[in-house]
Amino acid sequence: MTFDELLAKKAGDAEYVIKKYLPNINGYQKTIFEAMNYAVNAGGKRLRPMLMAETASLFGGARPQLLEPFMAAIEMIHTYSLIHDDLPALDNDDYRRGRLTTHKVYGEAMAILAGDALLNYAYETASRALMAAEKDELQKTAVAMAILSQKPGIYGMIGGQVVDVEESGHPVSLDELKFIYTNKTSALIECAMMIGAVLAGADNGQVQCIESAADAIGIAFQIQDDILDVEGSQEDLGKPVGSDAKNEKTTYVTLEGMEKAKNQVRQLSLDALKMLETVGLSEKNPFLKDLIVWLIHRKK
Ligand code: IPE
Ligand code: IPE
Ligand code: MG
Ligand code: MG
Ligand code: MG
Repeated sequence: MTFDELLAKKAGDAEYVIKKYLPNINGYQKTIFEAMNYAVNAGGKRLRPMLMAETASLFGGARPQLLEPFMAAIEMIHTYSLIHDDLPALDNDDYRRGRLTTHKVYGEAMAILAGDALLNYAYETASRALMAAEKDELQKTAVAMAILSQKPGIYGMIGGQVVDVEESGHPVSLDELKFIYTNKTSALIECAMMIGAVLAGADNGQVQCIESAADAIGIAFQIQDDILDVEGSQEDLGKPVGSDAKNEKTTYVTLEGMEKAKNQVRQLSLDALKMLETVGLSEKNPFLKDLIVWLIHRKK
């Protein structure tokens, strides 16, 4: 199989898991189920659940009854963050994952609620892993739950989004920008990879190493996102280009220039690979390595 075929297969596997955990569409509140399904089923790269599963594999794998609820949960949290990020009060974007944004189809009130619903349902879903855990699996499942609670929150993704929104239209220092990227974007990637490691039984030192590698992957990912906001196409991305300029965002590209931005994406990704090699990444797990390299040149 070529890398592209393998990537499509792995994304499909992640998608299959995610869909299993989505709610059925019925009852008086069925609009919320429709809006949740609309946003999640639109597609997307499924990068976070994929990274979770691949990191688990790096440490010998995890039982599906534990891993799968967390794979679904991280994609629900990510999708909620996108629904809210696109709202008129935040980035005010009309397209996402090749479709109209949730608020364009269901209205703002329902998009806010669909985001809330996905966030809450993520924990409802992840708690199924806790229920399925054997006695000797309870501790690591609880640790995974703690990571799933912390990284998307005020000391993670929300923290980054707060500064991103507040600093739109203002000059931002490189230090502040690093804070924004580490939190708004790396936090969920750290969350995904750390949970994969924890559920596979990695020790504290190994989990810390995964956290640092994921931080670098996340920052590289956000810089590439900023590059694509300038050089990409809506057709490839499924979302508008020029969103950052429209919202007067300081990005790595506006602050340091395009060439430096591209070099930084490469450097951070290579740094991440080096860190992962210290916890066992090798030619034996070519997909995780190839995935991180692919992210350097991604067009979507
Ligand atoms: C978009 O994430 C938001 C950022 C952190 C830049 P993705 O680029 O992973 O979005 P999907 O899941 O593929 O739609
Ligand atoms: C978003 O950053 C990160 C989130 C927490 C959603 P962006 O605002 O750059 O993401 P896109 O470009 O809209 O996907
Ligand atoms: Mg944003
Ligand atoms: Mg945005
Ligand atoms: Mg962007």
